[in-house]
Amino acid sequence: MSRFEWVSDSCRLLWHTAAEFDRTQPFKGLRIGTGIHLEPKTAALLLTLQRGGADIVSIGNLNSTQAETVDYLRAHGIDVIGGPTADPVEQDRNLRGVLAARPDLILDNGGDLFARYLEDPYDGLIGGTEETTSGRDRLLPLRDRIAKPLLVINDSPIKQFAENTHAVGPGTVEAFMRITNRMTNGRRVTVFGYGSVGRGVAMYFRNFFSVVTVVEPQPVLQLRAVLDGMEVPDRAEAIRTADVIVTVTGAPDIVTAADLRLFKDGAILMNSGHLPWEIDVPGLRTDRSVASTDEVVDGITTLHLSDGRAIHILTHGHMVNLAGPRPLGNSIESMDLGFTLQARCLEAVASGSVPSSSCVVPVPAAIDDLVASAYVALARRA
Ligand SMILES: NC(=O)c1ccc[n+]([C@@H]2O[C@H](COP(=O)([O-])OP(=O)(O)OC[C@H]3O[C@@H](n4cnc5c(N)ncnc54)[C@H](O)[C@@H]3O)[C@@H](O)[C@H]2O)c1
Repeated sequence: MSRFEWVSDSCRLLWHTAAEFDRTQPFKGLRIGTGIHLEPKTAALLLTLQRGGADIVSIGNLNSTQAETVDYLRAHGIDVIGGPTADPVEQDRNLRGVLAARPDLILDNGGDLFARYLEDPYDGLIGGTEETTSGRDRLLPLRDRIAKPLLVINDSPIKQFAENTHAVGPGTVEAFMRITNRMTNGRRVTVFGYGSVGRGVAMYFRNFFSVVTVVEPQPVLQLRAVLDGMEVPDRAEAIRTADVIVTVTGAPDIVTAADLRLFKDGAILMNSGHLPWEIDVPGLRTDRSVASTDEVVDGITTLHLSDGRAIHILTHGHMVNLAGPRPLGNSIESMDLGFTLQARCLEAVASGSVPSSSCVVPVPAAIDDLVASAYVALARRA
């Protein structure tokens, strides 16, 4: 059985939707441009959209595209532009290649396609979807210029708890263990950000017997962390005591060279936020206090400081659950839910039932209910 067949087997909600799309053909005659991590679960989403009649032109995100998935999609008639890359210049060229195909609908992940669409708008774009928090934050100030129906999957309660908390959380712990092969027990883990992803990361590390500290600027979320049993010392203390530091804020420069004086000898830095800017890896590597740098093994970079301390950075600060050796990303079931939200939202936008005033807004509650009911019905039948 191939990885794709294994993944397919658990995408019960997507296949249920695809079987309906075979009949209803919501995307007949439409081209969908997609810019989202290309790995086996995304393949199930793209094949579902294809069964709905869509012609698909796609690209992966920076540093998370899997070559076998690209081959698989191409073998199934999906046009994939470019391949795996960590080079922002090549990525930019490929993103523009997707837009050159003038898609009628855009499925975006991080706002890369919509932001470039605004540089050179074309007639015929109906609207689309955005998957992430980071993409929403980037596109929100642009909503008057986009002025098309654009539904944000991240802002569905289903995505928040099924994926952000209960998939990225365990996935980040799994990535720590997979890449370092070290135990989590008794380690002091500091998590920056206590949004839906950070809370999952913190809770799952704690469930793996770590002592977890949270750094979060919003008082209400700090309170939530306290009531969840997390420690919330000041920022410097949280860094000074950490064996492992995880950033999940969506914001840049959360950990920088200014923190080098604080790190414990042997501290491990990793990021699960969307963009590789939360840990300022270039700034850390080039700081005067760094005497030498080692690429130790797959996904681990060690900085040797001139005072004898060493710190380790995982996967060059890219999303740790989707990088490093053999990354599997979020659980299949969580993505089956999230991607069914994607398929249903694109169906709604394609049908013209979402007004252009619904630009960068959460998934309509009726779609949340439809997807939740379908999942529960399938679970009851299992
Ligand atoms: N790795 C993955 O597979 C994956 C999946 C989903 C989302 N994400 C990404 O994870 C990131 C977080 O997503 P979210 O939904 O939890 O976002 P969120 O906005 O709900 O939470 C982010 C939190 O970070 C806090 N924050 C901001 N600046 C901070 C700082 N300087 N120090 C400490 N905390 C700070 C904010 O106050 C906020 O509470 C985003 O980049 C998102 O795109 C990654």
